[in-house]
This record gives sequence, structure tokens and C-alpha cells, in this order.
Amino acid sequence: MKLPIYLYGHPVLRKVSEPITAVDDQLKSLLENMFETMYNSDGIGLAAPQIGINKRIVVIDGSVLAEDFPECADSKMAILNPEIEILDGEEVSRGEGCLSLPGIAEDVKRVEHLRLRWQDENLEHHEREFSGFMARIIQHECDHLDGKVFIDHISAARKLFIKRKLSNIVEGKTRVEYPAKYAPRR
Ligand code: NI
Repeated sequence: MKLPIYLYGHPVLRKVSEPITAVDDQLKSLLENMFETMYNSDGIGLAAPQIGINKRIVVIDGSVLAEDFPECADSKMAILNPEIEILDGEEVSRGEGCLSLPGIAEDVKRVEHLRLRWQDENLEHHEREFSGFMARIIQHECDHLDGKVFIDHISAARKLFIKRKLSNIVEGKTRVEYPAKYAPRR
């Protein structure tokens, strides 16, 4: 089932999400819905808060980027309760976007190498190193679980530059090409 994507300005995107502690049918269908919602909106990653659920779940599939970023080949995965360990503090700047911030693309500095510890859909533990654009997607999506979005990492000057676009999203004036849920009216 396709679910609406909660947009910038909605308080659910600013909450710290809760860990997953049990596997049940609800979790299985939630993961299916998250993948379907991500593919429907041409996303390469989606975090549960973006569909209004403050749980520590991320789905990723960056396979469409494999031509430019080989590390993204066959990268479909469900990530529960992730923990990031930075392996190399050197940051690289690259363009990012987010389904919760339609029409906004900004360069963001992030580290290129990390170790991820996570649990899969059966709560089995995994540990693996990621680099390049995969490391970027993981950092972007895990930020969502702590109530952060990618523009939190940009400069004050850039934020000022996109101020109008941001307020258009918050006020529900941005056209979105997928089902979306705007921030509640103040
Ligand atoms: Ni995002």
C-alpha cells in the first residue's frame, strides 16, 4: 500500500524515533508499504518518520544509481535500529534531496566511510562497512530517526537562499508528484 509522505514542517519529522523490539505482522506489512511508497515516489531511501511513524526503520534501494556509484548496486535493504560508527572523519560534499523536501537540492558534507550495525526484518544482527554514496544515503536516512533533515547540515546563507521554497512546503503551496501529507495548519 502506498502511503503519503510527510513533508517538511510536520512535527513527526522532528521527533526521535523508538527502537523496534519485536517482529510481528504489523512490522512486515509496514516494511512492504515503505518499499512500495519509496519506489512509487522514485526515492532511494525512506525512513519511517517520513510516513508518520516514529520507529527506527529505514528502507534503502540505491540500485538506480549504480552506473554513477557502483557501491549502490544491489543495495535493497531494510535497516532496523541502525548504529553508525564513523571510520574516517574526512567529509565530502555532494548534492542531496529528500522526499520530505520536494524541489530542494543542496550540497551536504558527510563522511564517506562508516561501519553500520543494524537488525534486519527478522531482528537478526548485521555489521558491515559502507562507503561512497551508500554511506551518504545511510547517514541521510539515519538522521531522520533522530529528528534531523538534510538541510540541518547546510550553511545559514544557503538556508536563507531556500527560505521561500521551505515556507512554500510548510504552507502547503508546493506541488508534490506523490501522495503527501503537509504540516498541520498553525
Ligand atoms: Ni530524507
